[in-house]
Amino acid sequence: MKTGRRNFIRQAIGAGLITTGSLSGLKAESLIEIYENTVQNKTHRQHFNMCGYRAPKLNTVKIGCIGVGNRGYANLKQLTYLDGVEIKAICDLMQFRIDEAQTMLKEQGFPLAKVYVGSSDLWKKMCEDPDIDLITIAVPRGPLHAEISIYAMECGKHVAVEVPAVSTISEAWRLVETSEKTKRHCALLENCCYDFFELLTLNMVRQGFFGDLIHADAAYIHHQNNYDKTRDGDMWRLKESQHHNGNLYPTHGLGPVCQAMDINRGDRLTKMVSMSSDDFMMGETVAELARTNNFYEEFNTHSYRGNMNTSILRTEKGKTIMLQYDITSPRVYSRIHMLSGTKAAALKYPLPSRISVGHEWLNDEEMSDISEKYMPEICRRIGNMAKQVGGHGGMDFLMTWRLIDCLRNGLPMDMDVYDAALWGSIIPLSEWSVANGSFPIEIPDFTCGTYKVNTPIDISLSEGANTKIRTVHL
Ligand SMILES: NC(=O)c1ccc[n+]([C@@H]2O[C@H](COP(=O)([O-])OP(=O)(O)OC[C@H]3O[C@@H](n4cnc5c(N)ncnc54)[C@H](O)[C@@H]3O)[C@@H](O)[C@H]2O)c1
Repeated sequence: MKTGRRNFIRQAIGAGLITTGSLSGLKAESLIEIYENTVQNKTHRQHFNMCGYRAPKLNTVKIGCIGVGNRGYANLKQLTYLDGVEIKAICDLMQFRIDEAQTMLKEQGFPLAKVYVGSSDLWKKMCEDPDIDLITIAVPRGPLHAEISIYAMECGKHVAVEVPAVSTISEAWRLVETSEKTKRHCALLENCCYDFFELLTLNMVRQGFFGDLIHADAAYIHHQNNYDKTRDGDMWRLKESQHHNGNLYPTHGLGPVCQAMDINRGDRLTKMVSMSSDDFMMGETVAELARTNNFYEEFNTHSYRGNMNTSILRTEKGKTIMLQYDITSPRVYSRIHMLSGTKAAALKYPLPSRISVGHEWLNDEEMSDISEKYMPEICRRIGNMAKQVGGHGGMDFLMTWRLIDCLRNGLPMDMDVYDAALWGSIIPLSEWSVANGSFPIEIPDFTCGTYKVNTPIDISLSEGANTKIRTVHL
């Protein structure tokens, strides 16, 4: 049967019934792999349910940070605002990144961390260090996120990995399998789930304000300069746009709407279709740069992914999500975050955020009353501190505080390995759909059916919430 399906797909690709697309990133073999791992992966049996899992409490969380570039440095600084953490070690390829991190640790009153620097697999040594409980990962996205996460869990560490956690479906299954077998958390660092409006609307969903949710719009629309050679080590953002065509960064928009819809905790994503525009900018910009600067010649050899990708996802309970990705068009930043229910709707972007219960938006006074009435507990308790500390308006601080508080109190993760696997899997699935004429593709159920009994995340702070904040040096 398996061979028959493989042959059928091979023949279909060969006959042009399924196309591999004009971009060369996805090869026929990986299309087959994605198809078989999603439609046909009936072999995985859940070893242990990590959703709701309570690991032994850690009074002090001893941390090793891998990748202290732009994002890793910011994550590390957020950790220094909290009691109950020790920064044991830092790892990066670049000495200057290590130096910047050590200087910051000193300024924040922390001892210097043990250093792993200079070679691309030194992170393994850090994962093997018995004096570390939690490995945080902020290296460039791609296979390294899953590779480090899996190795760290096998070494007995909990993991907190930057978005997205996976780049292929088989990585996603291996992540799930390893977390279940080792009983180590693989938490996703999806900070947008802790944005104030996303948290407010999640609380309003819980209180029934929207009635039944029917549909959500989500996105990552962010005009970025990925041609700047000083921005990313090894130009990894530009390279990714040369070799992949789909939604390459789904989690900022998708994460909060999945939480609002209780995905993996009552409902699940079942299938999706995805369509990309052509590239109207990247190839031209690189060609222009290459005319005067040799550095850009190696980026002038392939075509680029379409500027705008749009996917539509459906849940088992019949809800839909529209998800977009565009980091090239000169547009105002947006994650959209539109929730549409039977009784009300919410829209975050364009700012200011709004709520409607009919065909007009609520006025400022009504919005203010609602924001006060439905303010989530985490914002009530540490929202002001989060705004003072900052980090994308404070959401980074809320996320970091909650992660550490859960580990210290042995509480389940808000974003566990199933969310990490599912939200990241949209990348290869969207690529598959785009490469195959927007054909629908099934979305794997990484919970293996336990989504039916898993309970929604606790946003009431009914347990824990005792992690103190240190005197803040901003
Ligand atoms: N949540 C957010 O808001 C947010 C924002 C920006 C980036 N990110 C994510 O964070 C990750 C990092 O992005 P960034 O902008 O910080 O990139 P970056 O290029 O600035 O930093 C990556 C760092 O990893 C180091 N590195 C690379 N390979 C390594 C290896 N093998 N061992 C040790 N260190 C290694 C690099 O030297 C660099 O310092 C990406 O996954 C990105 O998607 C998330």
